Amino acid sequence: MKTVTLHDKTFGLCISSAEIQAAVDRVAMAIIEDMKDSCPLFLVVLNGAFMFAGDLFKRINFNCEVTFMKLASYQGTESTGMVKKLIGLSESIEGRDVVIIEDIVDSGITMENMLNELYILQPASIRIASCLFKPASFTKKFKIDYVGFSIPNDFIVGYGLDYDGLGRNLPDIYKIN
Ligand code: IMP
Ligand code: MG
Repeated sequence: MKTVTLHDKTFGLCISSAEIQAAVDRVAMAIIEDMKDSCPLFLVVLNGAFMFAGDLFKRINFNCEVTFMKLASYQGTESTGMVKKLIGLSESIEGRDVVIIEDIVDSGITMENMLNELYILQPASIRIASCLFKPASFTKKFKIDYVGFSIPNDFIVGYGLDYDGLGRNLPDIYKIN
């Protein structure tokens, strides 16, 4: 099996690049169907979502805007449960249809924090597109509108996701051994 070693840990191939691209196709088609007439503002959550966002936007064939927010909650392979905002939002979202682009929803703490902050700014609507979702560790109530893959509760890397800074550049997704 294909493996990678990052710092002190070894990871085995879990989702291939081809499978990821097929999931991005599905997500893009669903977003196009729902949002094509509303010129949405896509809000990408950095760092992890950069690769998913890049692949997704190449398939979005209608007028839209793209902006970025930077959040961090993980240290090593554990969520700290506290979300740090490192770069805030620079534009108004009042009256806009917003689509949040995330790499992964795990406990849901990061996303819930972000939703609470965004709703204060009175957008017309907020949808969520996440490349990955871990239903077994999800503790919140909000709906995730578009999901690439629902996966078991293992720590994964690649396709934007990191282990202490490494692994974001891998085109496939790997799970910890
Ligand atoms: P949550 O707040 O527990 O939902 O965690 C969300 C954030 O933690 C994600 O946006 C990721 O950046 C990070 N994260 C969660 N699970 C993993 C994982 O398996 N590998 C790498 N990062 C992860
Ligand atoms: Mg993230």
